Amino acid sequence: HKKLVPFPEDFLWGSASAAYQVEGAMEEDGKGLSVWDEFVKIPGKTFKETTGEVAVDHYHRYKEDVQLMAEQGLKAYRFSVAWSRVIPDGHGEVNEAGLQFYENLIDELLAHNIEPIVTLYHWDIPQALQDKYKGWESRQVIEDFTRYSTILFERFNGKVNYWVTLNEQNVFTSHGYMMGSHPPGVKDPKRFYEANHIANLANASVIKAFRELEIKGKIGPSFAYGPTYALDSKPENQLAADNNETFNAHFWMDVYVFGKYPKLAMKWLEENNLAPTIEEGDYALLAEGKPDFMGLNYYRSSTVEHNPLDGVSEGKMNTTGEKGSTEAGGVPGLYKGTDNPFVEKTNWDWDIDPTGLRIGMRRIDSRYELPILITENGLGEYDTLEEDGSIHDTYRIDYLKAHVKAIQETISDGVEVLGYCTWSYTDLLSWLNGYQKRYGFVYVDREENDEKELKRYKKDSYHWYKKVIENNGVTD
Ligand code: BG6
Repeated sequence: HKKLVPFPEDFLWGSASAAYQVEGAMEEDGKGLSVWDEFVKIPGKTFKETTGEVAVDHYHRYKEDVQLMAEQGLKAYRFSVAWSRVIPDGHGEVNEAGLQFYENLIDELLAHNIEPIVTLYHWDIPQALQDKYKGWESRQVIEDFTRYSTILFERFNGKVNYWVTLNEQNVFTSHGYMMGSHPPGVKDPKRFYEANHIANLANASVIKAFRELEIKGKIGPSFAYGPTYALDSKPENQLAADNNETFNAHFWMDVYVFGKYPKLAMKWLEENNLAPTIEEGDYALLAEGKPDFMGLNYYRSSTVEHNPLDGVSEGKMNTTGEKGSTEAGGVPGLYKGTDNPFVEKTNWDWDIDPTGLRIGMRRIDSRYELPILITENGLGEYDTLEEDGSIHDTYRIDYLKAHVKAIQETISDGVEVLGYCTWSYTDLLSWLNGYQKRYGFVYVDREENDEKELKRYKKDSYHWYKKVIENNGVTD
């Protein structure tokens, strides 16, 4: 057995959310529309046509939600700012009421000794910028995103110590431009690599601005990563796993940390006429974007095997972990997703693999030598609200307990981990899956087509996590 060292005293026991998924108040107090507000209006895009118009009404109930956090002893709360709430058209006038909402939320958290972790971008680019210049496909977004971020840095400097730049760049670009399942619904690999490169530049530009303005605290991206395994020890399958790590993990994290794309990936992109346009000065900018930590969103690992060059697969790239495994698809000649017979799966067919979190963090640590902030991890499941208002989510406790243990083992391996944000604090709107796929410690009573009273109920996992925080780790 591994000898375990205790969690650091200042370990951030946290939880997370994203603006679109919780706030609602879609057009209140001057908020502009985002691409998600518009995208979900297209019939057939989401489960039961759900939208974030009301979501879980956090905009109006944030005090109640923070009160629940305070009672639980939560040390950190990660949330995102909706760009179009702060700058309704993305680049013009600032909406003071929008800024004030986030200031109120931050103050409320600080009043209860909860560390705010602020995500600048969780997928909701203002629709106005999409209309004006195609959002992430134009280099103009670099300047606009930097200006928006700078406004937040300056306003909240000294109050916020942890900033997350882009949430899961690999997911929003691949789903938005390769698979077409997220806005803007494009399926074009060339446009995907171009938009992704521009997002890389925007990420670096914001970090550069953060340094130049000497903003207090730490900044880094949140990346959706889970390790890739080979199906077996057949060398061809090992090579496929290697390819997957290169294309779905190093392809992003190398750019964040080293300011350059992995050689192998660039070579392949050039051969396939997919390489992004690199302009003079791009690499210099990327080199200035080194983060202070690697934010990690971990849900699952994925498993791949060799993919012969005969067009067997769908020929699309997947994003490791987040939509990995059976959904993985693959790229002929590189890898293809396959089933891992050694792990259990959730009702949404996601591999449950706490050891994968340890492996993933060790890989990040040895390649990038940065502290890790776990910015998301959790289990999406159906929950049942009992008549007496309880929710017995033992499955969620089991999932989280196993992952907390894996984190402690990883810390004991010598890896620096700053904190752990579960996904999610309250139940919230799953982008494409409506409200039935629940992640929270706090149950929110609403259904897809029935808002009910949006009442909050503590799940069993709420009480369990309270103890974990009190004990600075799992003790039983
Ligand atoms: C992450 C996102 O990809 O996974 C979250 O950052 C999201 O915003 C979470 O909700 C879970 O995904 P899903 O599809 O189960 O809602």
